[in-house]
Amino acid sequence: MDFRGAHIISVKQFERADVDQVFQVADNMEPYAHREKVSKVLDGAILGNMFFEPSTRTRVSFGCAFNLLGGDVRETTDVKTSSITKGESLYDTARVISGYSDVIVMRHPQVGSVAEFAKASRVPVINGGDGPNEHPSQALLDLYTIKKELHSRQRAIDGMHIAMVGDLKHGRTVHSLSQLLFLYKDIKFTLISPEELRMPTEIVAELKAAGHVVIETDDMETGLHDNDTVYLTRIQEERFTNKLEADIYRGRFRLNQAIYTRNCQPNTVIMHPLPRDSREDANELDNDLNQHPNLAIFRQTDNGVLVRMALFALILDVADKVDLSAKPVGWYTESRFE
Ligand code: NCD
Repeated sequence: MDFRGAHIISVKQFERADVDQVFQVADNMEPYAHREKVSKVLDGAILGNMFFEPSTRTRVSFGCAFNLLGGDVRETTDVKTSSITKGESLYDTARVISGYSDVIVMRHPQVGSVAEFAKASRVPVINGGDGPNEHPSQALLDLYTIKKELHSRQRAIDGMHIAMVGDLKHGRTVHSLSQLLFLYKDIKFTLISPEELRMPTEIVAELKAAGHVVIETDDMETGLHDNDTVYLTRIQEERFTNKLEADIYRGRFRLNQAIYTRNCQPNTVIMHPLPRDSREDANELDNDLNQHPNLAIFRQTDNGVLVRMALFALILDVADKVDLSAKPVGWYTESRFE
């Protein structure tokens, strides 16, 4: 695809070569994200960061990624303080904000809202999550992490076994990640969820039709066997119309040190898009794994900055100009990246 000026709405837009291109540009961003060098390639550019749903890492890492390339960030983080509460349409909001920004990232609770917004926008729009539907930049950073983690274990994405655990019905990260893995060869998906929270049937059918193996189960312990990666998710309680229903599922599938040691291969990478629900009754990914070398959750969040820098650089067509304005960082900094 031609990234220049493109909206990024769904992982279905990508071919495998596009993913490779994002990853290659992301690799080049490392000295900047790791605070070795500073670039001003987006000096003067403005990101409109529009988050109409709660977010910590997606919002902040998109903002940081833009700042690290020298650009400025304007944020709208609350529906209450935006004119959407006065009845303004997505169309009007998009027309207005795209006059103030060079690129927009948007998160919104409704499926399809970001696509609708993008149609009216005069600048490129990146989907930061549209309800339970998709979260393409998260899928890219997840896959980038998987690639690096597996590479260090002499494994590749093709032929990998991945278990996805939790709320696979409402979890947009697993929807996007599985549809991105669709592009690779011979993936074995073990989808572990309560019967009522299974992966949407269309996604399962597409994966199977492409020749991937898909096993659906509610038996976590056997489902954990024989995987390269285990990807845990939070019960998405904000998506339940009856909040009490979420209580039934919360805490049902948990990974902790004992369960990991008993069921997983010793090399299995542990992932989670975060936030993990650390409340007593949930705790789908226990703190007792915090020091485990295979716990990749904070490598995921660090990688998110690289991948989001790459998306901005490609969309705004500066990927090969980043180094031109580079200079060493001018402040005291210690390496804190793995
Ligand atoms: C996820 C999301 O918002 O979909 N978080 C994220 O962006 N890293 C997952 C979640 O909220 O459970």
